[in-house]
Amino acid sequence: MNPLNSGTEACQILRATDSDAEERAIHILASGGLVAIPTETVYGLAADMTNAQSIAKIFAVKGRPDDHPLIVHIATKDQLNRVARDIPSQAYLLAAECWPGPLTLLLLRGRDVSPTITGQRDTVAVRVPANTFTRNLISNFGQPLAAPSANRFGRVSPTNAQHVCSDLGSDVDLIIDDGPCLIGVESTIVDFTVDPPQLLRPGGIPVEDLEMILGRPLQPSSGMSRASGMLQSHYQPQCTVVLASDAMHAVSLATSVEGDKSVVRILDRSNDLPLYAATLYDQLRQADQDGITMLVAVLPPPTGLGLAIADRLTKAAGPTNRA
Ligand code: TXA
Ligand code: MG
Repeated sequence: MNPLNSGTEACQILRATDSDAEERAIHILASGGLVAIPTETVYGLAADMTNAQSIAKIFAVKGRPDDHPLIVHIATKDQLNRVARDIPSQAYLLAAECWPGPLTLLLLRGRDVSPTITGQRDTVAVRVPANTFTRNLISNFGQPLAAPSANRFGRVSPTNAQHVCSDLGSDVDLIIDDGPCLIGVESTIVDFTVDPPQLLRPGGIPVEDLEMILGRPLQPSSGMSRASGMLQSHYQPQCTVVLASDAMHAVSLATSVEGDKSVVRILDRSNDLPLYAATLYDQLRQADQDGITMLVAVLPPPTGLGLAIADRLTKAAGPTNRA
């Protein structure tokens, strides 16, 4: 164990490469505890899907409303039948092409999945994460893991173990540290409970790639599934986030601020979208740590990974801060 001080509370952290990491994680999950797991998108706050008390703990620790459903993580696509029913062939097609990876499928809920996980809905969100430690953990634990992002509700998602530690402290029983998340934004969510399928959340896998595999466009989200937690303002840091259309616009916004310019920062990685995504949440957190009061962020074009980055930046800016 390597206790890390998060300011007020100590966190229990093990590296994914530590020989006892998996055994400890399994022991905690089996005893009804919470383990922060690395994934290629963001860190998740995981519990045994079949343990009602552990699921209740996730909602309590996150401060998340009961009707805001969780994603179920499985080890391989062969487990899909355990958690979902009446799966359309096009959903299988995406699963075969994209898993393990940053894609979440919304399907009809299987009998083994408690409605407390899905906000009392008859649908379930499910994915196979690409992180090897986490997939082995799910496999060897023997049950799917329900896991939202490992941050307090409404705050910026964690993309490294230290982020989880500073957010959740000792409210999480163990953090598995597998370094920074490679993708850095959450999974793309596609709703297959409607036909044609809808894009519920842009994310780590570009919509264009999915449409190419499906051979048809995804529809924008509307209706029941969308209503279950696609909040407009989310992912918010303390500082004000102002959106700029390009680098020159960002400079002009930053220089037009009256008073102390040292508390204004420009965020622009729009010439390298994978890097922009991978560093986005860390940059939002860093701005707060550095006492920045205004972050001027350049919106990338809304194609490829740019769609997810633009979505998160827009939510970080909130409804009132768009320039
Ligand atoms: O990349 C990810 O998806 C990460 C990692 C940890 O896997 N997880 C993640 O979980 O982002 P979370 O809980 O922060 O976001 C899940 C989103 C929420 O907006 C939730 O409303 C939606 O998925 N969701 C989950 N189940 C749903 C359902 N049955 N119907 C509609 N939306 C659902
Ligand atoms: Mg989240």
